[in-house]
Amino acid sequence: MDYSIESSPLDKLQSDCLLVGIYENQQLSASASSLDSQFGGLIGKLISRGDIKGKNSETLLINNLPDGNIERLVLVGFGERGKVSRKQYRKALAAAIKTVKDSKVNAAGCALLDIDVDGADSQWKARQIVEVFNDGVYQYSATKKVDDKNPLQKLSIVATDSQKSLAETGLQQGVAIALGIELTKHLADLPGNVCTPTFLAEQALSLAGQHAKLSCEILEESDMEALGMGSFLSVSRGSRQPAKLICLNYQGGDANSKPIVIIGKGLTFDAGGISLKPGLGMDEMKYDMCGGASVLGIVRAASLLNLKLNIVGLVPSSENLPDGAANKPGDIVTSMSGKTIEILNTDAEGRLILCDTLTYAKKYNPDVVIDMATLTGACIVALGRVPSGLFGNDDKLCNDLLVSGDTACDLLWRMPIWEEYQEQLKSNFADLANIGGPDGGSITASVFLSKFAEEYRWAHIDIAGTAWRTGANKGATGRPVALLSQYLLNRASV
Ligand code: BES
Ligand code: MN
Ligand code: ZN
Repeated sequence: MDYSIESSPLDKLQSDCLLVGIYENQQLSASASSLDSQFGGLIGKLISRGDIKGKNSETLLINNLPDGNIERLVLVGFGERGKVSRKQYRKALAAAIKTVKDSKVNAAGCALLDIDVDGADSQWKARQIVEVFNDGVYQYSATKKVDDKNPLQKLSIVATDSQKSLAETGLQQGVAIALGIELTKHLADLPGNVCTPTFLAEQALSLAGQHAKLSCEILEESDMEALGMGSFLSVSRGSRQPAKLICLNYQGGDANSKPIVIIGKGLTFDAGGISLKPGLGMDEMKYDMCGGASVLGIVRAASLLNLKLNIVGLVPSSENLPDGAANKPGDIVTSMSGKTIEILNTDAEGRLILCDTLTYAKKYNPDVVIDMATLTGACIVALGRVPSGLFGNDDKLCNDLLVSGDTACDLLWRMPIWEEYQEQLKSNFADLANIGGPDGGSITASVFLSKFAEEYRWAHIDIAGTAWRTGANKGATGRPVALLSQYLLNRASV
């Protein structure tokens, strides 16, 4: 998709399909009101007739307009004027893109910067228009023929002179973040027999080839052996695919400024191992690499944004399968930190590969470390599929992330990791057990990780409920790329 800013006034504008906003109670946005006079009161007439009320996410395609420069109009309802939240703005945009797609046009214009949105300026709105539209036109096609390819190629955002400069910035940010999200969704949706640890490593190398400030190094199993990553390697031993530790390095800041390290769980398939998962829905465990795919997406966005920051992206990648060489319940492994771990359930493998990566992260002398992982089904039980779970050992970092999530509409909810929970991870035979029993599963998983993150400021984001949609509309969401991109933008601006 090609995104641009359009600054001709509405009465001069050429458009195949123009989106304009209306509110409930017959209230028109500035653009709608100007078009209404241009078309002799047409919009007002359609509203009086009851064709559209202006409720949030209602849309109406007007296909047949009097001769002029505008071929079609799409009216988009935003709800009650003065009460449009950022979430509702995004929701209405998502409905609008559906209607534009149905109209089969090649190019559309979007005159929706003039909607009053609580706590949002033209920069935020332009950015969301790009993010939501790009999400709406995303179509998985790697292994499936798409008969009805969406013809929409161009979107221009209509901005007045006073909106223009903020809108330009928002558009640039939106494009960078949308391309990051697109990469994450693409990798996540690929099947486990295509997207293996080796494939993911190749993707990271090719990404690094596209940006001057980005480099990539891949640690092989022999390198991990030498580093003493006994926990990580115990998981990959059960798989015929060699494990990889992907290390991306983005140098956008001063040579001596401490990096922000982001880590993503990269299980390209999680069958559970010897503690085999039930068959129903097991296909979705191809998504167990969504944290890793998010690292690639975030690093891509940061590179395109040319952020003045140093960022390290680490992706431990492996499969978790049952095999004669796989971990068995009761096995004890020694992690890179020296701590021994009793593996009571081989399906709690994410923490086993993450703990060695958290230890490895120390070598970068990080400012902060943030990991993202589809870590626990228990997180979905606790929070549903609305926010991702946030855990961490530093209030400032956690609050910064919460605020970023709010701005990006990619929400987080903080959970406790109090010392009381450590009781649940005690083992008679090792320093730690890898599971903490049925209670508070997302918390005990995080407490386990926290034991390997004591030497720096750290946060963990459990994206088990948010990284993909299940059901008829199954597919990756690209979360939490927007959230982390916002955090990085905020960090780069201070
Ligand atoms: N990848 C799963 C977590 C998961 C499950 C994410 C379902 C999304 C949907 C993880 O490796 C896992 O299997 N966790 C176990 C932990 C348990 C054995 C303590 C779980 O959640 O059941
Ligand atoms: Mn598992
Ligand atoms: Zn897993």
